[in-house]
Amino acid sequence: VVPALSELLARFRAVRARTTALAAPLSAEDQVVQPMADASPIKWHLAHTTWFFEAIVLGRDGAAAFDAAFGFLFNSYYEAIGSRVARPDRGRLTRPSLEIVHRYREAIDRQIERALVEGALDAPALSRLELGLHHEQQHQELILTDAKVTLGMQPLRPAYRDDLAAASAPAAAPPAPGWCAYPGGLVEIGAIAKGFAFDNERPRHRVYVAPYQLAVLPIRNSDVLAFVADGGYGEPRLWLADGWAAAREHGWELPMYWARQDGGFVQYGLGGVRPVVADEPACHLSYYEVDAIARWLGARLPTEAEWELAAAVTGGADLGHFADTDRLHPAAAPAGGEGPVQLFGDVWEWTASSYGPYPGFRPLSGALAEYNGKFMSGQQVLRGGSCLTPRDHIRATYRNFFPPPARWQMTGARIARDA
Ligand SMILES: [Fe+2]
Repeated sequence: VVPALSELLARFRAVRARTTALAAPLSAEDQVVQPMADASPIKWHLAHTTWFFEAIVLGRDGAAAFDAAFGFLFNSYYEAIGSRVARPDRGRLTRPSLEIVHRYREAIDRQIERALVEGALDAPALSRLELGLHHEQQHQELILTDAKVTLGMQPLRPAYRDDLAAASAPAAAPPAPGWCAYPGGLVEIGAIAKGFAFDNERPRHRVYVAPYQLAVLPIRNSDVLAFVADGGYGEPRLWLADGWAAAREHGWELPMYWARQDGGFVQYGLGGVRPVVADEPACHLSYYEVDAIARWLGARLPTEAEWELAAAVTGGADLGHFADTDRLHPAAAPAGGEGPVQLFGDVWEWTASSYGPYPGFRPLSGALAEYNGKFMSGQQVLRGGSCLTPRDHIRATYRNFFPPPARWQMTGARIARDA
């Protein structure tokens, strides 16, 4: 089922405008740099999301394209569409200029809007357009995380924006740490057939879940501080073998963006360098780190089914902070509420589930078969969205995925235990 044309047009304009607005605080130089292979230059994100609408929604390339070379420059990973610039080389693209990339965005925006108004898009194209909007929202989060790496790894660690709220307001009655119990059983997870969801969220299917408990709060900075103080980063018995090797190889002694300063700890955020706040959800942790912290806490990470069951029961009542809050940093839990808080928003929560196909998984057809399915090996599932995720982008069945060592995303976790 595809939304009405007028609604799609309004959403298209709003999503595209927000992407441009996210890049606006950055200089042209900021937008060219690729600080590491996993992160892409902001200019590349602006162009790639546009290429997605041009090549995949409109099906225009070659002679019909805005620039025939852009398919090579801004295709991310679609083998079915053609060859492309190697991912680690995206930061070499001083050409096309940022100005030309903006002209590219405007030209494709006009083409999409004209096609919508003239009714030139058939139902499959409209479905691809809706996917393109969700795709662009994914890149909006990446623009923020990649800008954070670009700025946060510089010697002066400049802020992305100086006007971001300095600290979260303390909750009137902060929820106490504790556990929520769930009976489990033979239950269903995954997205129903109706409405938008990515292909990797379907089909809805039955799983057996043993009785379990889920922490009321995500792992907080206070937990990490205690883990650090107890020598957790140097205790191999807490770590998976791959995690221990990664921690040694990369010299991990603190979460990414943390530093020791004046006998305490500071943390770089998009608002600049600030003291670590104990009550805030812990962030920029790899799967290996949260796994070790969970073990140190005498617990484990939840499976994605355990996480989704809890989220389905709360019905989204316990929402945390999203990009819409415009704080762009995790915040302490809001007051009160039954059940786990901040399941949605603040930090993506690593789960114990490896990223694989649900039983009966069917990828989208054509080039879009490559959207999610081909990444189903060697990654872990994350749930719930973050403080950089648009509120209307996330849902209980949403499955994000990253390799276990990844730290530059807004990643934390919540612990679980058997009942
Ligand atoms: Fe993409």
